[in-house]
Amino acid sequence: MTDDKSAKIESLRREAAECRACPLWKNATQTVFGEGPADADIIFVGEQPGDREDRVGRPFVGPAGLMFDRALAEAGIDRNRTYVTNAVKHFKFERRGKLRLHKKPNAGEINVCKRWLMSEIDVLKPRLIVALGATAAQSLAGRPVAIGRNRGETLTLANGLRGFVTVHPSSLLRLPDEGEKQAAYALFVEDLRAIGEFAAESAPAGAPGAFARARGSLP
Ligand code: URA
Repeated sequence: MTDDKSAKIESLRREAAECRACPLWKNATQTVFGEGPADADIIFVGEQPGDREDRVGRPFVGPAGLMFDRALAEAGIDRNRTYVTNAVKHFKFERRGKLRLHKKPNAGEINVCKRWLMSEIDVLKPRLIVALGATAAQSLAGRPVAIGRNRGETLTLANGLRGFVTVHPSSLLRLPDEGEKQAAYALFVEDLRAIGEFAAESAPAGAPGAFARARGSLP
C-alpha cells in the first residue's frame, strides 16, 4: 500500500516536472514537488518554492525552511515523518539586479497548480493537512482565508480530510522587532504542538464535506 502510494507520488513528480499549465515554469529552474514518506500522517503546505528551493529542487530548504525545521523540532514533530509541499510548484520572482525577489502567486496561478496539490493529498490521504499561510489556505479552501482569524482552527476539507491553518514561517522572518519575532515564533511552535497532538489522536476522516468549520470558524 505504502509502495503503491510512493509509486503514485513518483509518477506525479515526473508529470509535474513537465508542467507548462501556467507561465511560471519559464523563469523557474525546475518544478519543486513535495517530499516525504508516503505514510505521513501530516502534510504541510507552504506557498511556493523560494530562491534556494528553486535551485535545490526541494521544498523548505532555505531560510524559512530552517526556521520551520527548528520550530518542528521544538514541537516534537519529526519532519522526516511528514510530507512537505507547496500550493504552487514553481518559484515566482522579480529580478532586481542579481537578486531574485519573491513575488506572491496570483489566484489564477494558485488555481492552476491546485491539481498537483490535490493529487498529492488524494494519494497520501494523511490524517491532517496544514496550511502554512494564506496562499496554502486559499488553495485548500478555494477562496481567500484570513489567517489571523482562522489560525489554530481544525477544518474539514472538501475531500473529507482534516485541515489546520497557521502562519507561514517566512512571516516570522519578516518581523522587524526581535521581541515580536520571539513571541510570534513561540505561538507558531504552540500551533505545531497542537498539530502534532491532533494528528496523533485523529483517525482519517472519510465523508465528503466542504472546507468548513469543524472547530472554530472560517469567514
Ligand atoms: N516558502 C514556501 O512557502 N515554501 C518553500 O518551499 C520555501 C519557502
